[in-house]
Amino acid sequence: MPETKTQQSGNSGSDGSENDAPKGLEGVVVATTELGDVRGEEGFYHYRQYSAVEVAATRTLEDAWYLLFHGELPTKTQHAEWIEEIAPLRDLPDAMVELLPAIARAGDHFIPLDALRTALSATTYSLDYRPSLDLEPDELRAEAMRTCALVPTLVTSLYRLSEGHEPVTPHPELPYAANYLYMLTGEEPDPKLARAVEKYLISTIDHGFNSSTFTARVITSTGADLGAAVVGAIGALSGPLHGGAPSRALDMLDAIGEPRNAEPWIRNAVEHGQRIMGFGHRVYKTDDPRSLLLRDVAAELGGEQYEFARKIEDTVVEVLEEMKPGRKLRTNVEFYSGVVMNSCGIPRTMFTPTFASSRTIGWCAHILEQAADNRLIRPSARYIGPPPPQPVPDAE
Ligand code: ACO
Repeated sequence: MPETKTQQSGNSGSDGSENDAPKGLEGVVVATTELGDVRGEEGFYHYRQYSAVEVAATRTLEDAWYLLFHGELPTKTQHAEWIEEIAPLRDLPDAMVELLPAIARAGDHFIPLDALRTALSATTYSLDYRPSLDLEPDELRAEAMRTCALVPTLVTSLYRLSEGHEPVTPHPELPYAANYLYMLTGEEPDPKLARAVEKYLISTIDHGFNSSTFTARVITSTGADLGAAVVGAIGALSGPLHGGAPSRALDMLDAIGEPRNAEPWIRNAVEHGQRIMGFGHRVYKTDDPRSLLLRDVAAELGGEQYEFARKIEDTVVEVLEEMKPGRKLRTNVEFYSGVVMNSCGIPRTMFTPTFASSRTIGWCAHILEQAADNRLIRPSARYIGPPPPQPVPDAE
């Protein structure tokens, strides 16, 4: 911040506050939560009281969803009741069956996350979601459940429509991940692929106070409806510095082409100030545990792309270590998630929307938590422009 301008403005925020948060709010605690946390130095994150990686490795997505909403993992009976509660919530509302084709074809280029954002806004409007400030906790929870159940149907339907196919009605017997692949392709998936996608989806449900989660909580803090908060969160997730990287990571693998090109390609990119997609993280200064989990999932699925990605990972880490010493840049969740999703037949354009599907559960859990103990989130900014009030010039 230029010192002279700060002095001119009186050196305080608009509310007289002298507390400056660092740029990007790095390291600033802005809320309390019981939902989970990320320990960047250790390379550990958790959902409630359990390691998220362990939950992904051992439980179903529905269990993880239950855990975030209820604070405990379900028993077998609770799991069965939970599945019964979710299944009927997946179906598209009638108004959206009519509207979705128009949304899918509205732009010159189909951008699934933009289409999802638009469709979800229309959906929650059509379902008459009301300001969270006016709702009882069980009413808000019902909206959250419906949203989490509907997003996979919306996004897969939009994709199919954009490809000239009819949407596939949710399969009443299939769990979340298998149903996701089913709605995408119209065929019941290989259980091995469904399980790989499920691990990915579980591992991305929640992740501390990331930008989209913060966005959802800021919007909820105004008392706005849950649909507005999730739509805002999708907007935040769409940025390449947050969730928009997995397809870019695969694009990079394609651009590198073969291992011998890797080093010069990466050097050239970093010299030109570019970011290597799928590497680096605001919080993790060691391996991102999601990346390690997904690397194992990718290894189980095997294939040339995995082998290639493995080699490129080593080269990128070495080059970044040399060119950006001390920054501790390792693979983040996005690098191997692209490889896993590609191996499971999810189209590249659907990577971030697939991430958005599972993250909707995390956003909704945060929305419920924010609404249950709310205070308007309203920070200040330090004005650094010309000292006001300047005389308003006459119109010429
Ligand atoms: N490639 C090259 N250099 C990098 C990378 C990268 N991927 N990431 C960080 N750096 C460098 C920066 O250039 C900077 O160097 P400098 O100090 O010489 O200027 C230094 O490391 C610190 O970078 P910051 O931007 O301050 O780190 P920040 O914590 O703000 O960024 C981020 C984190 C945005 C994820 C960054 O690492 C990045 O842009 N990565 C690539 C995009 C990506 O993979 N996004 C997905 C993130 S995972 C998720 O959100 C789900």
